[in-house]
Amino acid sequence: MESKVSPPGDRGAAAEQPAVKLAGIDITFHLKGGSRYQAVKGIDLSVAPGEFVSVVGPTGCGKSTLLNAAAGLLTPSAGKVSIFGQPLSGLNRRAGYLFQQDALMPWKTALDNVKVALEPMGVSDAEADKRARDWLGRVGLRAFVERYPHMLSGGQRKRVALAQMLIRDPEILLMDEPFGPLDAQTRQIMGNLLLDLWSKDRKALIFVTHDLEEAIALSDRVVVMTAGPAAGIVADYRVPLARPRDIAEIRLEKAFHEIHRDIWASLRVEVQKAYAMGEGKELVEGASS
Ligand SMILES: Nc1ncnc2c1ncn2[C@@H]1O[C@H](COP(=O)(O)OP(=O)(O)OP(=O)(O)O)[C@@H](O)[C@H]1O
Ligand SMILES: [Mg+2]
Repeated sequence: MESKVSPPGDRGAAAEQPAVKLAGIDITFHLKGGSRYQAVKGIDLSVAPGEFVSVVGPTGCGKSTLLNAAAGLLTPSAGKVSIFGQPLSGLNRRAGYLFQQDALMPWKTALDNVKVALEPMGVSDAEADKRARDWLGRVGLRAFVERYPHMLSGGQRKRVALAQMLIRDPEILLMDEPFGPLDAQTRQIMGNLLLDLWSKDRKALIFVTHDLEEAIALSDRVVVMTAGPAAGIVADYRVPLARPRDIAEIRLEKAFHEIHRDIWASLRVEVQKAYAMGEGKELVEGASS
């Protein structure tokens, strides 16, 4: 694997446990008819507390699958997931998950969609109301608290989802193409909002995106996955850009172009492989093996 990551020890003597550690992860899905599909193989990925790591790779390579493993929503066929040094079994309660699909409840207002995240924590209704209004304010939706999801734009719905995740104050954030369906300008606004919120209280963040520029602009590290099946990690780059960043401005910097060129060289090969494989050409292993 190509690695541009500083050696361990850079962070000082404190042997901090990684917030998320995936070690030797294989994930195989069992399909109807007894066949199976190995989505990812031999994945090793460590994310330090406070680190912002993006994962890029061709469509269908296994990015969401990896996040699901980190979230404890699926158990790997092999390998180990550790959260702050503890083996993960069951749901990862220290993580907040922003799903690839819009997950707001259409019958609840923005306010109630955010409040609902506090329900399992036994917070009183008055307190939940106060905190939810505060979070909706922080994501720029103070005037929209009583709107239902269908009365909000795509970008506004993503802001509600962001507030819904952050209100629980999770130690780890897992975000799956959160800005995928948005137009370019709105993505930039959302990217800056995310950086602003994250930089105030740095959490470990795994951010899946298909947009390499977005990945570089936001992250401390960019990890590139290979095309599936049996996808792995082909490269792991540290982004040498200072913070705070404005994600529109930073794209104009020479260092941005240099790292973009390097990462794209790895990513392009995998994207081409994924296209070449085409529909129906994925390797489906027989049930007997
Ligand atoms: N529950 C499942 N059963 C069978 N196959 C699955 C299942 N979930 C995912 N897969 C397959 O595993 C592979 C990885 O899927 P995944 O959703 O992780 O890809 P992705 O990298 O997130 O793609 P995208 O960029 O399109 O969101 C795909 O080939 C997909 O068809
Ligand atoms: Mg996905």
